Amino acid sequence: MAVGKSITRTEGRDKVTGKAKYIDDYTCPDMWYGKTLRSEIAHGRIISINFSDSFDWSQVVVVDYKDIPVKNLVALIFDDQPLLAESVVKHVGEPIILIAAPSKELAERAIKNIEITYEAFPAALSIEESLSVKAKIFGDDNIFKHYTITRGSVADAFQSAEIVVEGSYFVGHQEQLYIETNGVIATTKKDGSIIIQGSMQCPYYIHRAIKEIFGLSDEQVVVIQTVTGGGFGGKEDFPSVVAGHAALLSRKCGHPVKIVYERGEDFAASTKRHPALIKHRTGLTRDGQLLATEVDITFDGGAYCTLSPVVLSRGVIHAIGPYKCPNVKINGSVVATNTPPNGAFRGFGVPQACFAGEMHMEKIAKTLGISSVELRRKNMLREGDITSTGQKLLYSVGTQEVLDTVIERSDYLSRVEEYKNPSDNKCRGIGLSFFYHGGGFTGSGEEKIKGKAAVELDTHGQVKILTASTEIGQGTKTIFRQIVAEELGISLDSVIFGDTDTSKVPDSGPTVASRTCMVVGKVIQMAAANLKNEIKKLVAQKVNCDISQVEIANGQISCPDVEKLSFTQTAIECVKEHGEIKTMAQYSSPPGIKWDEINYTGDAYPVFSYGADVVEVEVDMDTYEVKITKVITASDIGKAINPAMAEGQIEGGMVQALGYGLCEEVVWRDGKILNNRFTNYIIPTALDIPEMETILVEKPYPYGPYGAKGLGELPMDGGAPALVAAIANATGAFITEIPATPERILAALEAK
Ligand code: MOS
Repeated sequence: MAVGKSITRTEGRDKVTGKAKYIDDYTCPDMWYGKTLRSEIAHGRIISINFSDSFDWSQVVVVDYKDIPVKNLVALIFDDQPLLAESVVKHVGEPIILIAAPSKELAERAIKNIEITYEAFPAALSIEESLSVKAKIFGDDNIFKHYTITRGSVADAFQSAEIVVEGSYFVGHQEQLYIETNGVIATTKKDGSIIIQGSMQCPYYIHRAIKEIFGLSDEQVVVIQTVTGGGFGGKEDFPSVVAGHAALLSRKCGHPVKIVYERGEDFAASTKRHPALIKHRTGLTRDGQLLATEVDITFDGGAYCTLSPVVLSRGVIHAIGPYKCPNVKINGSVVATNTPPNGAFRGFGVPQACFAGEMHMEKIAKTLGISSVELRRKNMLREGDITSTGQKLLYSVGTQEVLDTVIERSDYLSRVEEYKNPSDNKCRGIGLSFFYHGGGFTGSGEEKIKGKAAVELDTHGQVKILTASTEIGQGTKTIFRQIVAEELGISLDSVIFGDTDTSKVPDSGPTVASRTCMVVGKVIQMAAANLKNEIKKLVAQKVNCDISQVEIANGQISCPDVEKLSFTQTAIECVKEHGEIKTMAQYSSPPGIKWDEINYTGDAYPVFSYGADVVEVEVDMDTYEVKITKVITASDIGKAINPAMAEGQIEGGMVQALGYGLCEEVVWRDGKILNNRFTNYIIPTALDIPEMETILVEKPYPYGPYGAKGLGELPMDGGAPALVAAIANATGAFITEIPATPERILAALEAK
């Protein structure tokens, strides 16, 4: 058995021994280095660009928008973002000029010898300033996208509600802060074709972006992922920009060009989590039954649209959390501001929605004077219940299991009472959150993508996995091997992972949306089943029996009246006779899935994963410093293909979520980030996090590989509200804006 075992990480040895080559480790003799000159202002027009006479410009190559052969565009959803600014700049850090030089130092010196003068325009730097159209950034109203979800009649239901509770919540930016910054090497061949190597999540996104910029065919662009040091959504769309820039430089200077951002540049220029203002109005019976919910969500998209509509879409769908409410109205907008575009970040709109929704549940419980556990139990979705989009949950609903498990393990009910009345100047508190996360693309997304993957039997009798799903630290290369070994009945050693290279692997869809295991893993399993069938067919022909009589298990092939054959030996012979054997598979949705894109109703996701978190804290009442003392999570992920790695992913996500709630804050002045460093953008380290209790709940999803469903993003959703609820329990300070800094705790206590 290979599935369900905690085998070691496929690429782990190479990573810890330093053998793994990240993009900055690659070099070649004639390689040049690229640098980017960026806007210093948030909004304005470029008046002049002056190249200093004291610099010898013949040593370097300069690129601006006029060097772009076909489309000055970062191809994503709307065609609004230029690859290089032409006359107007809309955010600090917007790229204007590129330099390539034989050395990094020379490229940097060239940048310092260029001076840009601007005519400044008014800038909208917040949601409020965007909505009042302080600056015109997108269309007439600055709204990139709006969604409404309606179910039942909210107006009537509020009439009959015994209690109405309102609340307003705000979350700020969060930076992904992958350890390896963005980087690529672009090489332009004599025939005009372009090769991109680099750190990325989605090779086929870059493939498309480069084709559009240069007007090239599928075959003329090759994108190869190098070992990637983390992504978290931050390398979903942004690497297309870096790759486009490097390719422009390479085309003009005739050398391979490497661009690797240093930390400050990466932090300041790349996408972040969307800030959000979220308002709830909820009507209930006196004993806590939800009758009507109205949610108003506004996301700050930044200066260009990027992926904002899809992030918002996930936010609105998850807005009321894993609760049933017959009457719902959710309005969501994402607006433009003069700050760098926000984009994908693990959770993709849900951490924002979950913080607001779960803090609001706490507020409701307090208002009604009932236990927040009782409130959640009373309203939680169970099998057969219907979500806010009208989706009937038919299977794999682990709500009760995850909630009961954390409540029991943490002794929540007695502790929450015990901690209620702070006495000394170190106050303890306990907090709870309960949440869900849809796996795979929203709505008809997976049907449109139809992700493909393949497996191939090679001349060594090994099975090679061919997929565009990337390893970004989360375990793709390990769990896919486990799935294939299990399906074929062979040893893990016989399964290898092919290069993530668009000229060699089919488009499996992007590595996002908690879809790698659940969606692409299923496709891999199907491809392996097809290969098994092919091998059985060849063996049956060879030994002259019926295909149904051939069995493959434990690395051996058995058929009637023949001694057991070794899988590897037989595979080598088969390949010798018939050439390499490759089988493909393609995703298709589970039966009965229906989504109405116009009315935003129906089956938003094929299935949801469920989670519950309990966090305990100790707050110093002199300094308002918060120490996290205990973390317990329960996560229903259908099936853990590799339990140790699943737990690792949950713990990592939880730490990122606790950072979001406690200390991660981007500081701005006039649209410019002031703390773009590890030294002043504070994330939790191992010293800030206590030992965690991580409980896996497995309610199998019938259409996932061995029952598995999405896992990657779920652990990012519930950490912040559980932490902030614990602070409220400890201190009485009900914080509605994160991170929960000492200043905000003080302000909340003073407001009381
Ligand atoms: Mo992900 S945040 O869907 O790259």
